[in-house]
Amino acid sequence: MLSHLAKDCVVAFTQPTTYQIDKLGKLHIFCGELDIEYQQNTDDFIAIIKLISKGPIKLATVEKHLNTIKHKKLLEEFILSLFELGILYWYMRGSEALKFHKTSSFGHFQEIAFDQILLNNLNETHSLLFNQEYAHSNRCIYKKLPFQKSSKSNLNELLSNRYSSRDFSGRALTPRTLKYLLWTGYGLMQKPTKDRSGRAVPSAGGIYPLRLYFANLNIRGLKKGIYYYCPQCNAFIESIMHDLPCDINDWFRTKHIKYNTAKAIIFIAAFPHSTLSKYGERGYRYLLFEAGHIAQNITLAAIEKGLNSICVGGFDDDKVNMALGLSNRGEAALYSIAIG
Ligand SMILES: Cc1cc2nc3c(=O)[nH]c(=O)nc-3n(C[C@H](O)[C@H](O)[C@H](O)COP(=O)(O)O)c2cc1C
Repeated sequence: MLSHLAKDCVVAFTQPTTYQIDKLGKLHIFCGELDIEYQQNTDDFIAIIKLISKGPIKLATVEKHLNTIKHKKLLEEFILSLFELGILYWYMRGSEALKFHKTSSFGHFQEIAFDQILLNNLNETHSLLFNQEYAHSNRCIYKKLPFQKSSKSNLNELLSNRYSSRDFSGRALTPRTLKYLLWTGYGLMQKPTKDRSGRAVPSAGGIYPLRLYFANLNIRGLKKGIYYYCPQCNAFIESIMHDLPCDINDWFRTKHIKYNTAKAIIFIAAFPHSTLSKYGERGYRYLLFEAGHIAQNITLAAIEKGLNSICVGGFDDDKVNMALGLSNRGEAALYSIAIG
């Protein structure tokens, strides 16, 4: 049951984790602010907690331990529930990139009030440095080039009109339009050949390690819930995660966006193992680049269709991964785009 995880992966608690048995004999696991209650088979459960709390441990060792236990299936379910609750996580042994992915998702996210003066100062400093380094140098040739004139091309118009919107009072979203947005992001524009992927975005090594999901909040004629976009069949596949587990606003750490007025939120998730196994740690960068390519296409397509959109990196990884059902599949959400 745990075999879908990479064979050489390591599991660890995300925070120091302790346990206690209450007066009724129920097991409580304490991880950060969480207090999770379990009813059954406490001895075996405790043995697993003790084993993993010794420090990051190979999945293979945990599996070996499970094989000696009578209620193996129950214990596996217990471990999976710890993954889903975000108490336990796994990373590929030795992969600094995946460790970084995990550590960069933890807390300490504080939203600071938007400060126009600070932003102006930053911009000023940037241009000052640029001017000192380049503009006043004799090598400067950009001044001699004519200013870019806007052409009448569709692309030019879309680029000029692109902006982020944090309020979603745009047009109604139909399944057909959403499919169009997803198709521009990761769909097959043409039949793939030996030399061409047929997609609108490039991918390192032609691996295409990303996947697009969306939470349907208010798409006309489509049941609320989580869906996967299948590029090969250009279709939505309804996830087994039928319900949106909690208020969509709780999925995000950036709070100043009216997520619940969006019609849909697209999530770009990665299956890192594939790209990392070809490029090593450097492959992690490629996953992020590729997510950016997709997001840009989707936001431009949204403009084309008269819809508002915003790219959001400030979500709660654990909540989103759990909601999309990615927590224990070796997949992780990287980026999101709210549409409406
Ligand atoms: C990687 C990335 C992450 C972002 N995350 C957030 C976010 O968490 N919250 C938010 O309000 N905007 C987010 N944005 C949108 C930027 O704030 C926005 O693009 C920027 O203010 C420029 O405005 P414009 O897109 O309208 O030109 C993000 C943009 C990028 C590229």
